[in-house]
Amino acid sequence: MTPASANRDIARTWTYHNATKHSEWSLRASPHYLDWSNQPMPLKIYTTIEAIPLPRDAEQTGIAALSAIAASSAATDIERIPRLEDLARVLYFSAGITKKKIYTGGEIYFRAASCTGALYEFELYLVCSDLPELKAGVYHFGPGDFALRLLRVGDHRGVLVHATAGEPSIVHAPAIIVCAGTYWRNAWKYRTRTYRHFGWDNGTILANMLAMSAALQMPAKIVLGFVDSEVNALLDLDTSREVAFSVVSLGRLSGETPAAARELPKLNLPTVPLSPSEVDYPELREIHEASSLENREEVAEWRSALSQRGEAETEGRRVRLSGSTDPIEQVILRRGSSRKFERQSITLDQLLTILTTSTQPIWPGFSLLNNLYLIVNAVDGLAPGAYYYHVATADLELLKEGNFRNKASHLGLQQDLPGHAAADVFFLASLDPILNTFGNRGYRAAQLEAGILGGKMYLAAYALHLGATGLTFFDDDVTEFFSPHAAGKSAIFLMALGKGRKPDQ
Ligand SMILES: Cc1cc2nc3c(=O)[nH]c(=O)nc-3n(C[C@H](O)[C@H](O)[C@H](O)COP(=O)(O)O)c2cc1C
Repeated sequence: MTPASANRDIARTWTYHNATKHSEWSLRASPHYLDWSNQPMPLKIYTTIEAIPLPRDAEQTGIAALSAIAASSAATDIERIPRLEDLARVLYFSAGITKKKIYTGGEIYFRAASCTGALYEFELYLVCSDLPELKAGVYHFGPGDFALRLLRVGDHRGVLVHATAGEPSIVHAPAIIVCAGTYWRNAWKYRTRTYRHFGWDNGTILANMLAMSAALQMPAKIVLGFVDSEVNALLDLDTSREVAFSVVSLGRLSGETPAAARELPKLNLPTVPLSPSEVDYPELREIHEASSLENREEVAEWRSALSQRGEAETEGRRVRLSGSTDPIEQVILRRGSSRKFERQSITLDQLLTILTTSTQPIWPGFSLLNNLYLIVNAVDGLAPGAYYYHVATADLELLKEGNFRNKASHLGLQQDLPGHAAADVFFLASLDPILNTFGNRGYRAAQLEAGILGGKMYLAAYALHLGATGLTFFDDDVTEFFSPHAAGKSAIFLMALGKGRKPDQ
């Protein structure tokens, strides 16, 4: 009998998830003081590779943000080869530096997508064929100087075709982006909870990437089924510190992808140390290994499980796109996490616009893993209370009426933001069926999906000149509050929406 794969040992997800829950007790029992002298740098800097500057003067698409956010990544047969300028725009508006703020301790470089603690633990790598103005290769994207650095010469897409067991969108993609997270860069502050943050912080990047790709009419598909070790080896990652988390195919090419090279030499390229020393959190490596796919058979199994989920439940549903024609680039540039909300109401139309545009299918033919529950504090035309959002019909079902501002503050880790917001959207997932179907990889998918939906909500809110922020939460208190409807579900993520105080909007 062959031993069960790590991915099928779903007790490992439960061990991680339960051990990283926040509660009033856990925060008191385990206070954490930040060691500012050991704060990791939010960039990976290769010291020996020449920079290839990316063009900065690309024209704006002019495509309205709301329609770009709502566009689902439909399969296409049309040839679409990205130009360097297209790649520059996709990279900049997903992970580029869009703002600098000076404070007494130094300077923070804020990025296009939100990130827990502004720690920006994700790196983007590009694997491409010969493109106009860019030679085939494996590149690292450096947001610091907005440049690519060539890590491997030649067309290595075959490695990704192999690693994804022939995933059709990868087979036909002229360019593929791999997103990789570095544990220490987030764990410095969030310790073992960082693996949850990997899903959220990668997800917000992907929300922007999908919207920008849609605006550029470039097919883009998120691929989570891949043999982890093969992708990590292609990028030459030190997997005790940094791991590939998601892959995105960009564009479409009708020709065949060349086969993978037989051997991938180690690169051992030097990078600048992130901080004087690094703390290892074995729990992070453990949950990552548990959710890794070890071979192509497991990848094929993952893909067939995905296709058995049936039609995405939102297909054919009416999406509200009214209220703003602001172009996607403008909206991404003005996005920021609201630090304060006015205690004012938003309209029901605004709330439904945010909800419908951000819950379009992410995985074609596949329903969402997260369920959305709301605390409505101040939405014109809606009684304050707790609601369940039916994604398929865009209906809000009242679970209980009442003023829950204080409760919302408590659930959002005793912060004012969710209490002052007009509405709070809680993401909850039924982890048991997800893990039974997909194994531990389903946990990664649920966290990532929440981040993508949250990232889209940020953009939709800012398109409407509202404010938004991601938030963390007291896990079991959230489930209890929305029970009995939410009984047995696990809290995954939280977004607060409302009228942000200037200069947020
Ligand atoms: C998943 C997620 C959780 C967050 N949680 C909190 C939170 O609990 N409290 C808070 O004040 N900000 C929170 N934020 C906001 C981040 O601090 C903010 O995104 C980061 O500082 C970058 O700033 P920007 O979003 O304005 O670009 C969260 C953001 C994300 C993406």
